[in-house]
Amino acid sequence: MNKPLQSLEATQASILKHHGGDGSVARQRITEHYERRHDADFWMFWNDKVAVNHQSGDIIMDLGAGIGQFVQDCALRYADAHVIGIEVAPYMLHQPLALPSNAQIVIDDLNAPQADIPPNSVSMVMANMLVHELTQPMKMFQAVRRWLKVGGRFCVIDVVRQPLQDYLQRRYPNTEMWQDSTSRSELEDAFEHFLEHNRYHPEDIVFMLESGGFQLISREPLRNGGQTRIVVEKV
Ligand SMILES: C[S@@+](CC[C@H](N)C(=O)[O-])C[C@H]1O[C@@H](n2cnc3c(N)ncnc32)[C@H](O)[C@@H]1O
Repeated sequence: MNKPLQSLEATQASILKHHGGDGSVARQRITEHYERRHDADFWMFWNDKVAVNHQSGDIIMDLGAGIGQFVQDCALRYADAHVIGIEVAPYMLHQPLALPSNAQIVIDDLNAPQADIPPNSVSMVMANMLVHELTQPMKMFQAVRRWLKVGGRFCVIDVVRQPLQDYLQRRYPNTEMWQDSTSRSELEDAFEHFLEHNRYHPEDIVFMLESGGFQLISREPLRNGGQTRIVVEKV
């Protein structure tokens, strides 16, 4: 028997749990590193690898848009485009950034996207630190394939598998996990997040995208291999 579709509210509750239970803290943590992650090198990469087939009037999309920082940047950089962010967490949306008139954020659950985007209308799609938060990414990958025009490009940046040692050393640099003062619930949280951040190897993401007919353009490790940056094209 098929499981019933997860409701928007259930998705919002599981994301809040993944984000640590406090929406405003999560919002601040997730947004404060935006500038560092989108420096001059990033935009050089974006121009060389992702923006190559963009034409005036095309749509640009940011999936898992957070408070809309990338949506805002793209709307300013591509004044000839319509920029659409998709986001589901209410605490990301409750004080949205002031967006230019060519940009908007749409509420939708990317585990099974329903957003009304015309097929073959999109030149570039970004999914930055989103894929590991989805219960499964296939429905979103299908939607991206439908939305992109031929030649349109899709960039996935995400955390990928790493040994438990690397993960725990970052969280407990002084082996605090052995100390009595580290509680059971704290350890349960650490081991649950280890699984959630450790879902995919870079090859798994490439496999899913190539099996759907996307053509691999580039794949590179970031942050000492703790993240991957993949670009594919709709052919
Ligand atoms: C780690 S944050 C990254 C935010 C932004 N992309 C960035 O790079 O700064 C992941 C974002 O994806 C959103 N997200 C997670 N699951 C989602 C879903 N099923 N549908 C829509 N958005 C989702 C989260 O609420 C969060 O804002």
